[in-house]
Amino acid sequence: MKLSSSLAIIAAQAAVVAAQNATDMWPLSTDPYFDFTLQETLSMANGGGASTGEVLAAAAKITASDFESYYREFKFLADTIHATGTSSKSPVSRREAFFRSASYYRSADFYLHGNQSDPRIDTLWDSALADFDAAMALLPVPGKRFNVTAKLSNLTMTVPIIFYAPAATTCNQKRPTILAGSGYDGSQEELYHSIGRFVLDRGYNFVTYEGPGQPTVRRQQNLGFGVASDWWDVVTPVVDYLEARRDVDMERLALFGLSFGGLLAPRAASREHRFKAVIANDGMHDFAAALEADLGGAMAVYDAGNKTEFDAIIDGLRFNISLPAQYRWIFDQSLWSFDTVSAYQWLTELKTFNTTQEMFDNITSPVFVARGEDDVGTPGQPEQVAKMLGDKAYYHEFRAKLGAGLHCSMGAEAQVAQVALDWLLGIFENPGKTYPNGTVKG
Ligand SMILES: *[C@@H]1O[C@H](CO)[C@@H](O)[C@H](O)[C@H]1NC(C)=O
Ligand SMILES: *[C@@H]1O[C@H](CO)[C@@H](O)[C@H](O)[C@H]1NC(C)=O
Ligand SMILES: *[C@@H]1O[C@H](CO)[C@@H](O)[C@H](O)[C@H]1NC(C)=O
Ligand SMILES: *[C@@H]1O[C@H](CO)[C@@H](O)[C@H](O)[C@H]1NC(C)=O
Ligand SMILES: *[C@@H]1O[C@H](CO)[C@@H](O)[C@H](O)[C@H]1NC(C)=O
Ligand SMILES: *[C@@H]1O[C@H](CO)[C@@H](O)[C@H](O)[C@H]1NC(C)=O
Ligand SMILES: *[C@@H]1O[C@H](CO)[C@@H](O)[C@H](O)[C@H]1NC(C)=O
Ligand SMILES: *[C@@H]1O[C@H](CO)[C@@H](O)[C@H](O)[C@H]1NC(C)=O
Ligand SMILES: *[C@@H]1O[C@H](CO)[C@@H](O)[C@H](O)[C@H]1NC(C)=O
Repeated sequence: MKLSSSLAIIAAQAAVVAAQNATDMWPLSTDPYFDFTLQETLSMANGGGASTGEVLAAAAKITASDFESYYREFKFLADTIHATGTSSKSPVSRREAFFRSASYYRSADFYLHGNQSDPRIDTLWDSALADFDAAMALLPVPGKRFNVTAKLSNLTMTVPIIFYAPAATTCNQKRPTILAGSGYDGSQEELYHSIGRFVLDRGYNFVTYEGPGQPTVRRQQNLGFGVASDWWDVVTPVVDYLEARRDVDMERLALFGLSFGGLLAPRAASREHRFKAVIANDGMHDFAAALEADLGGAMAVYDAGNKTEFDAIIDGLRFNISLPAQYRWIFDQSLWSFDTVSAYQWLTELKTFNTTQEMFDNITSPVFVARGEDDVGTPGQPEQVAKMLGDKAYYHEFRAKLGAGLHCSMGAEAQVAQVALDWLLGIFENPGKTYPNGTVKG
């Protein structure tokens, strides 16, 4: 490995660390990425997917940058909370415990993708899905899983979805519906806690899905993101399914994307025109460009087409346990979610997810573009997405001083729901009326 190449990354990383130091949030680890992912798990508490004291207790025991320690503490928490659920007589207690243990099993898995043969990647996920399903079955209106078939350019796959109806509604009554998808590492299950409960409280249906590269599809169908840069091919059969149901109001149908989903959702809407609104939390158009900027000197090796050397540089980073979590995790997760062991192949495929001006021009609905004030993962991209959308965009920056500055405004779920779903209500109540670039700071 060339030291000069890795030094470029380290210099870029220092900028990320510095920016995260500027946040108003109280840090949960001295490793900046552990801090971020612990905040993310803590934020699940806002929607019943974690308990604050449980996450803070795990955070206190986790050794900064030590992946096995992260696994150990969350596995302990998951098993222990799972056991309390199993022995509980009350269905409500069981439901609450199993939602939390499911989240903790997912957290235990989070940093384990460096060794793609690690059997814990599947066993932890099986536990997470089983506990989530046990909890979901105990909801007043149980969430239901369905599969739809999608034809991608050269293969046929199954898109798993979960359909949740709001409480206290009449069967078959057509209701506003939000279809939500996560991003580079998030599951459809966690969307229930981050935005789903807020949507259901407003009397809407809430539906989630996963495509290639995303956690359950990657595991159960061995499909990485690379096969699905035409992301609309994943989403369109889900919309066909919703259209055939008697309880979905197609005049009030919206698409929500979280994190890398903030790129995937507008991308899907460039060809799938049945959505009346799109929410990109946060806005993103070219994830590869942001990572290339971080790769610095290593990009010369990539651009020269030296696959062997580029792969060796990235492996040198991801297997160097002296480095902070983010260097190692982003590449571990990238290779795993693209179903490859070659960083060169990963980056080449990620570049095909570059959303162009022509695609944004093809979107027919208004788009809410969010940005967290302290989010430096894809610098400038939410603003750029709003610019490329022109009058179709409604841009909103969530503020750090209100605890909403993290990537996707994690931790401030109620603020995201308030601002984005109020905007959506305006669209649903006044079809055809747009709210052009309402650049608002709140
Ligand atoms: C971030 O803050 C910590 C604690 O104050 C400090 O030790 C570290 O050097 C800071 N990092 C950067 C890049 O400013
Ligand atoms: C990856 O995990 C498998 C299964 O536990 C193990 O046999 C293998 O040695 C591990 N590989 C590395 C490089 O640690
Ligand atoms: C959906 O398909 C998966 C296989 O990809 C299968 O394991 C699962 O049981 C199916 N779920 C439903 C609800 O049919
Ligand atoms: C599908 O096509 C893409 C691009 O042409 C290619 O990279 C990929 O390997 C193909 N996948 C399969 C499963 O054939
Ligand atoms: C994405 O496409 C734009 C042009 O539409 C180009 O300027 C940019 O370099 C591309 N990004 C990557 C990572 O190749
Ligand atoms: C790739 O880079 C390595 C290290 O600089 C060099 O030895 C090798 O010849 C290069 N291979 C190609 C195909 O350029
Ligand atoms: C691992 O990273 C540390 C800290 O940046 C560096 O000093 C060391 O040389 C790296 N090790 C290897 C094998 O590259
Ligand atoms: C825009 O939409 C038209 C009509 O569906 C399609 O033919 C064209 O390929 C699209 N262009 C892009 C860049 O998505
Ligand atoms: C929104 O519109 C204002 C006024 O036209 C403009 O100055 C600003 O740059 C736009 N913001 C974005 C994010 O496009």
